[in-house]
Amino acid sequence: MNLMQDIIERAKTAKQRIVLPEGTEKRTLYAADRLIADGVAHLILVGNPSEIKTLSRQYQLQYIDEATVIDPVDHEKKTAYARLLADLRKSKGMTMEEAEKLVENPLYLGCLMIKNGDADGEIAGAQNTTGDVLRPALQIIKTLPGISVVSGAFLMFVQDRSYGKNGILVFADCAVMPNPNAKELAEIAVTTARTTQTIVGVEPRVALLSFSTKGSARHELADKVIEATRIAKEMAPDLSIDGELQADAALVPSVGVSKAPGSRVAGRANVLVFPNLECGNIAYKLVQRLGRAEAVGPILQGMAAPVNDLSRGCSVDDIYKMVAICANQAINK
Ligand code: ACO
Repeated sequence: MNLMQDIIERAKTAKQRIVLPEGTEKRTLYAADRLIADGVAHLILVGNPSEIKTLSRQYQLQYIDEATVIDPVDHEKKTAYARLLADLRKSKGMTMEEAEKLVENPLYLGCLMIKNGDADGEIAGAQNTTGDVLRPALQIIKTLPGISVVSGAFLMFVQDRSYGKNGILVFADCAVMPNPNAKELAEIAVTTARTTQTIVGVEPRVALLSFSTKGSARHELADKVIEATRIAKEMAPDLSIDGELQADAALVPSVGVSKAPGSRVAGRANVLVFPNLECGNIAYKLVQRLGRAEAVGPILQGMAAPVNDLSRGCSVDDIYKMVAICANQAINK
């Protein structure tokens, strides 16, 4: 897990302002205390200030006073944020009254702070579902120029260190886009390669996975992956991308050589791109549980500024790591 330590150290070199909209949630407060003590980020906790103070005392936390606390129902920029939201959602028919209500929702508030330049990134999801965390981010922060799709990658730390970079692989999309078309899948492949470059710091070798390798099966589902591979190569000629590949052809050198001879990726892939969310979400959980891999994520990618989602079953440690990853994304931006 030296990679995680590197990520934490990188975050400390240029402390970013990270919003935690679930500022009264127990694990979030414990993680915030450690993050402040270690100097990983400037934290902005959203929540009732006196409740945060009381909880902080109850949990015997020492550093929470150093966080910026924003009361979602009473702060100086409330009207300005409501105006910003109404303006951003004007074409969807949002009125100022609706915006004034929505800005009291910490998940909307966090995204508006980022959009307004008052924060660099956000982590939420210890209490809220993925959909509820993502929706305001998709509506307010939106995607990077040239990208139409936000997706979620996992860093997978597998037991067998002969795979990936010393056992580190990146899986996507495991969190967001239920059924991408070929163009969207190509974007997921390219953004996952960029995440691999910036967060893992290695040259990505991207495999677009299927149940077919280089025409071994004929089916419209394999055709989608073939087309996605073509588009991804066109979008990013600098990257090593190949498909369609079965998982063993992507990962095992002897299988790669026999099923996809001449491929720069087959047999040595470190980025696995799944054809849809069902495959990606199931695959990462199987590798995590049956293969005893550590899964860190989802790291949301393709967004114009970093917003990351937590699992509601997350630990204090998970929140700590995701804040460090989010800070790295903000630094790279
Ligand atoms: N990338 C970019 N923009 C998107 C995306 C995307 N992947 N999906 C939706 N949007 C945009 C839409 O264009 C729309 O923009 P607009 O309002 O400005 O026109 C806005 O986001 C809202 O879109 P909707 O389709 O109305 O939003 P919806 O309520 O359907 O939710 C969501 C989108 C939340 C991402 C949905 O696709 C979803 O729930 N995905 C699955 C999430 C999930 O449950 N993952 C598994 C659990 S996570 C885990 O296990 C790690």
